[in-house]
Order: sequence, then C-alpha cells, then structure tokens
Amino acid sequence: MSRNVLVIGSGGREHALVRQLAQSPSEPAIYAAPGNPGTALNGTNVDLDPADHEAVVAFCRAKEIGLVIIGPEDPLIAGLADHLHKADIPVFGPGAQGARLEGDKEFAKEILTGAGVATPRYQAFSSSQAALKYLDKMDLPVVIKACGAAQGKGVAVCSTRPEAEEFIAECLDAQRFGSSGLRILVEECIFGPELSVLIVTDGQSYALLAPSRDHKRIGEQDTGPNTGGMGAFAPVELGDALYQEIDTRVVLPVLAELRRRDIPYRGVLYAGLMLTDSGPEVLEFNCRFGDPEAQVVLPLIRGDFLELCQSTAEGRLGSYLQGFSIEETGGPEGWPGAGLTDWNRHTVVVVAASDGYPGSYVKGHAIDLPSQDDEKGWIIHAGTATTDQGLVTAGGRVLGAVGANESPANARDTAYGLLNDTHFTGLIYRRDIAAKRG
Ligand code: GLY
Repeated sequence: MSRNVLVIGSGGREHALVRQLAQSPSEPAIYAAPGNPGTALNGTNVDLDPADHEAVVAFCRAKEIGLVIIGPEDPLIAGLADHLHKADIPVFGPGAQGARLEGDKEFAKEILTGAGVATPRYQAFSSSQAALKYLDKMDLPVVIKACGAAQGKGVAVCSTRPEAEEFIAECLDAQRFGSSGLRILVEECIFGPELSVLIVTDGQSYALLAPSRDHKRIGEQDTGPNTGGMGAFAPVELGDALYQEIDTRVVLPVLAELRRRDIPYRGVLYAGLMLTDSGPEVLEFNCRFGDPEAQVVLPLIRGDFLELCQSTAEGRLGSYLQGFSIEETGGPEGWPGAGLTDWNRHTVVVVAASDGYPGSYVKGHAIDLPSQDDEKGWIIHAGTATTDQGLVTAGGRVLGAVGANESPANARDTAYGLLNDTHFTGLIYRRDIAAKRG
C-alpha cells in the first residue's frame, strides 16, 4: 500500500494532522490541499480545489495516494468521501449521509432521539412567526441554532427575548447564513461544563480519543460571542463513572442507531457534550476532528497515527486496536480505546486571533514567531500566509501555541510562554485557557 497521504483543508486542524502524520515510522509523502504555511513544513501544499471532486480523484491517481484525510466539514457534507470511495481510494471521513450529522442539526436531533440519548428539548422552524410563538413557551436563556453548517457562527445563546427575536430574524428573514439558516432549532438552554469527545470509528469498531475541552467564547470567563474555539486542553479528567456513562449512554447508542439506519461511517465523529447535574447531554455532532481540539488530542495519541487512520478508512480498526492495552497507559477502564492515549501527558493550546474576530478584522500583518519548536512546545498555523514580505496574518484564528508536558501546569506555562514571544499587530488571546482543568 502506498504511503502517500493527502490531507484536505487549510486550518490549524490540518496542520496538526500533517504534523502527526509526519511522525509515522513509514515516512509518508504528505500532500495538503490547499494547506497552509504550517502544513508546508512537513508536506507539500497543492493547489487543488476540494470542491472539484474529479480533480481530487485525478490528483490521487497521479500521485498514487493511498489515504485521503478530509479535515473540514464542507467537503464531507458535499460528498467528497463518497466520490473517493467510488474511485477505490481509501478515505478517512464519512460520506454525505454520515456528514449530515453536522450538516443538518435537525437530522442530528432525530438520530439522538432514535438512539434515546439525552439532548436539550427543541423544536425546528422555517417560519419566524411560528418560532416566535414557540419562544413564548420557553424559559430564558434560550439557544437558537441554524440547522445547516455555519462555521461555528450559527448558534446564539440568547439571554433576552429581543436577542432571540433578532437572531431568529437574522436567520429566517435576513438569511445571514444563506441556506444554512433557513431552518432553525429553538432549543432549551442547559448548563454545565462542556466536553469534546472524538470517536474514531469504521462503523463496526470504535475508540475514544482523549477527552478535551474547548473554550468557545471570545472573552475571558466565557463571555462575548462564540468563536471556532480560542483554546483547549486534554485530557480532561473525569470520574470513573462518567467515563463509563459517556460510553454507554451516548457513544454506544449513537453508533448503534447509525448502524440501524444503514449509515456507513468511517472517520471521526465529534460529540459536543454538556456535563449536566443529571448526566451528559449531546449539544451537537461534528463529522470531523474539532479545531482547536485536534491540536491537543492528536499529540497524545500512541502508536502510528497514519496506521490508525488507514485502518479506519479500510474497515479494519478492530484489529489495529488489538495492539493497544490500557495497562500500559494507566487509562480509564470505561473508555474504549483508552490504550491509544498517553494519559501521563497533558497538552494545552492557546489561540492567537486577529483583533475584531469573530467579527471583521484586518489581514496582512507581519508575524514574528518564537524560535522554540520541540516536543514540549510548538506553533500550529491556522490563518497565516507566506508572502514576499514573509509570514503574515490571513485569518481570524491566526495560530495556536501548544504546550505538552507530564505536568498540566508546565504544559500551560509553555503554551503561554510561546505566545509571549509571538508578535503581530492586533494579536488577541484569552489568558484563562486551561486555568480550571476539572
Ligand atoms: N472547536 C469546535 C469545533 O471544532 O467545532
């Protein structure tokens, strides 16, 4: 089997994927389409439009690609994995049917209901009049979500009725999110710490990667609007009972429901949970690795990450997992696939963003990076670009500073230390990432 790999995407998640793949003992040739200056450090960026499925297949044939990993949701929702599958090219990432779990929040709720998994009470609407009438029955705060994918911006937690009315009108009347917001969920607001659970599955076997926690709001103490994520850490320590409960009350029933409906799934299913007083509830699914979660979860993976993805893509994850035992890692018993994670290490990423994000911001500022890059700390590129003037900002989330250490406090200090030595005009970041780890 060819050891040539193509990673689709251009963000921090894709740099983290390429960085992890580059550590494979099989020394793969890695291509990223379109990639970013970070993916170029360990691979070759190629000018390939992921929306042009024929062109992706042609590229894979020309370069003898033996595995495609699709990073972002849009190409997954658009069915790129189906196209590659038909062309007999192994692909890590679900087809369009499975990706509907992220692309259609009403469908995700149907799966959860069918599986009997706890999730906030909701109703779906296409008319603002009907949504406003339903609001009368809801307590505040209330959560309004665009049903389609909206780059993490289609969700609003509304504390007042005027806020809820405004967001409903933005979605359904002003069509701020285009067709993604023409149907919305009006959802009960629940409370508790959030948890990101990444489930690697080939549809039959599955493994849970290290539980992680994102910090989604722009402001410290979780204030201000939602972003794609301003920082994360892993592993989150949970009590023994909770590891087990997440598996038996969420993961197992959801995977069984997908099988019951004949929905094939080979890739990673991201369950966004809230840990409420009455147990874990599912807030959302994503059909891909989280970002920035991937930046902290992937470095904790034991063994050959390329082989983990390849065996998942080829439907032989079960036999791959047999090579990993929990005893070697001290991982929790109730967490299937715990042997895949190094539980003795801790990782923290702090995102450096452009002032104005998640609203409008200026691009093109020169970036000055720290010199340190070793197994204890490194920089992940997200919205950066290489120009004649050198490295410049090119996105809202510009880069992530990652610290890794046996001590959680040292991992955090390393990440913030790297950020202190990173400079660009308008750099903003949160100072409270991983301040509380429980
Ligand atoms: N960090 C949230 C997400 O990847 O959707």
